[in-house]
Amino acid sequence: MLARFLIRAMDAQAVWTKPLGDLTHRFLHWLFHLMPPVRDLLNGRWLGHPLHAVLTDAPIGILFLVIVFDVFGEPFAALVALGIGILAMLAAALTGIADYADTDGRARDRATLHSTLMLVALLGYVISFWLRTGKGDVPPEAVGTSIASFLILAAGAYVGGDVAYVLGNMVSRHAFRGPGTRWIALEPAELELDGTIPVGRPVRAKLGANGLVLVNDGSRILALHDTCAHAGGPLADGRVVDGQLECPWHGSRFELATGHVRGGPSVYDQPSYEVRRRADGGWEARRSPIGR
Ligand code: FES
Repeated sequence: MLARFLIRAMDAQAVWTKPLGDLTHRFLHWLFHLMPPVRDLLNGRWLGHPLHAVLTDAPIGILFLVIVFDVFGEPFAALVALGIGILAMLAAALTGIADYADTDGRARDRATLHSTLMLVALLGYVISFWLRTGKGDVPPEAVGTSIASFLILAAGAYVGGDVAYVLGNMVSRHAFRGPGTRWIALEPAELELDGTIPVGRPVRAKLGANGLVLVNDGSRILALHDTCAHAGGPLADGRVVDGQLECPWHGSRFELATGHVRGGPSVYDQPSYEVRRRADGGWEARRSPIGR
């Protein structure tokens, strides 16, 4: 009941979050794609995990302490916590903006609402900090501003949770895929007349319920899952660059031989598969061991 009310309330904001999100996203996408190493660093590719999710808990915890210190009459401790909390918010915001640069559709609308709330909360905290500095006693309006900011921060965190847990932004598209070691018949969508897989370009294939993308590099058949781990882009529509497959949606790159992610915004590896010829001339494949 409450959840449905909140979803309707969040969806109703699309009248302003959509145009605002589309505008800011265009700029941020352009900016972060100018500097892939910075984007990858902020996305968390080096960690194999979204960095934003790691950093967001810190400001919430620290800024809650501001209320605790205010209640117990510790103005200096509250001021220090407030200063650290603001810095932690800025760090979390930077990583969130990098994720936002490659967010689409409803998740982008929701992320726009999330970031607007966070920005308002940050502004409130900066005002509260300014009201406290150079004064012996903490003015009541400084306490009121930090409490109001915390409530806005909590609302922003709720919306951010929705972006990840409900809309699956920055969640691996292969989170629930089992390892599976059985060889299964593979059905390539295209074959040459002699039954071989065309050389040098991505070819779609069915492996049971899974869609794969195959690349014949001239000496072996390399195979990845066709659904990009980042946000589900069709890798078979991508291009082969230096032994890697580039996703057509946001440009993540995966090593064809291993599925290892070599360029963001994906922070996750792509499931890879072993392919071999069957005795009857057909093809079969199985999932490569995870973590190889
Ligand atoms: S879907 Fe985003 S990089 Fe593939």
